[in-house]
Amino acid sequence: MSGSVPGADPGVPEQICVRVELATRGYEVLVGPGVRSEIAGRVPKGARRATVVTQASIGVEVDPGVPFQVMRIPDGERAKSLATVEEICRFMARGDMHRSDVVVAVGGGVVTDVAGYAASSYHRGTAVINVPTTLLGQVDAAIGGKTGVNLPEGKNLVGSFWQPLAVFCDTETLQSLPEREWRSGHGEMAKYAFLGVDDLDSLSLVEQVARCVECKAEIVASDEREGGRRMILNYGHTLAHALEAAGFAGEDASSPLPGLRHGEAVGVGLVFAAELAQLMGRIGPPRLERHRRVVAGYGLPVSLPAGADPATLVRFMSRDKKSAGGLTFMLDGPAGVEPVHEVRPELVHEALDAIRGDR
Ligand code: GLY
Repeated sequence: MSGSVPGADPGVPEQICVRVELATRGYEVLVGPGVRSEIAGRVPKGARRATVVTQASIGVEVDPGVPFQVMRIPDGERAKSLATVEEICRFMARGDMHRSDVVVAVGGGVVTDVAGYAASSYHRGTAVINVPTTLLGQVDAAIGGKTGVNLPEGKNLVGSFWQPLAVFCDTETLQSLPEREWRSGHGEMAKYAFLGVDDLDSLSLVEQVARCVECKAEIVASDEREGGRRMILNYGHTLAHALEAAGFAGEDASSPLPGLRHGEAVGVGLVFAAELAQLMGRIGPPRLERHRRVVAGYGLPVSLPAGADPATLVRFMSRDKKSAGGLTFMLDGPAGVEPVHEVRPELVHEALDAIRGDR
C-alpha cells in the first residue's frame, strides 16, 4: 500500500509512503528526496536520546530531534561482526541509552544490518530507524527486519528479525553514489523485475525505489520470518552467495579479480537461475532471454568470473541457508519464482557451464 507522505509539501510531488503491514504492527517506508528531515517525527515519544550509527565515508547528517551521539563503525564487510555489535552496545551503554531510546542507522547494508542487530539485543530490544544511503539498501537491505553479522564460518550466520520503526529512503543521499554502487543496487532491482515489478525503466528514480519497496513489503507482510514465500526475495542469490564465499566478492582482498559487488553477483545468479529453470523445463527460451536482457541492460555481468570453479560453487550452494538438504534454488516457472528443492547436481553443472565466461 502506498500514498503521498502525510504533511509533505504538495509542491514536492515525489515523496511516496509505502506501508509494511505486519501481523503485530506496521511501519512506513518514506521514499523521496529529503525525506530524512522527517525522522524526528518518528522517534518514539518516550525517547530521551538517540545513537546514530554510521561510517566516516557516509557523510549524511540526520537530526533525530533528541540529544544524540554518533558512532562511526569501520568501512567494509569486515565491520559486520560480533565485535562491532559489542562496540556499538558499549557505546550505547556509556551514552546512558535505555530501551525506550532509539538507534538511527545511516548507511548501506553493513550499517543497517549490524546496527539493527545491536538494537535488537541492547536492553533486550531497542527501537531502530533505518536511513539507507545506497540503492541496494533502499530497495532491499534496510526493509523487512533482517539484521545480522557474519562469522568466520559464513555470512549472516548470527542475527535476528527486528523490524525498524520506520525507514527513510532519502534519494538525495544517492547523489554521490559511485557507479559500481549504482550497478550493485541495480542487481537487486533486476531481481524485482522477475518478482512482478514491470517497466521500472519508464519510472523516475523515486518511483523505481518505491515500486521495489512495495514488492518487498507485500512479500515480507505475507511471511515475516521466512517460513516459505519470503525466500523468493533471494532469487539469484544462491549462486551470488557461493561466488562471494568462493572469494569473488569485491571486498575480499584475496580475490583474483577486482571482485564482484553484491548486486553484480546477483546479476550472474539471476541468469544462472534462468538457465537452470530452462533446463528443468520450467521456462522457455524467451523468458531466459528476458533474464539476460534485463541483467545486461543494467550493465551487470551475465557470466561467471574467470577462474570460478564449478565444483567449488556447487559445494557452497549446497550449504545455502535456504537448503533443506540437497540443492535448493529459487526458480522461475509457470507460477512465478518459487523454492525448488532437490535439484539434480548434473543440471546445476550444466547451467554453470552455460554461463561460463570463456564460451
Ligand atoms: N534480502 C532478503 C530478505 O530480506 O528476505
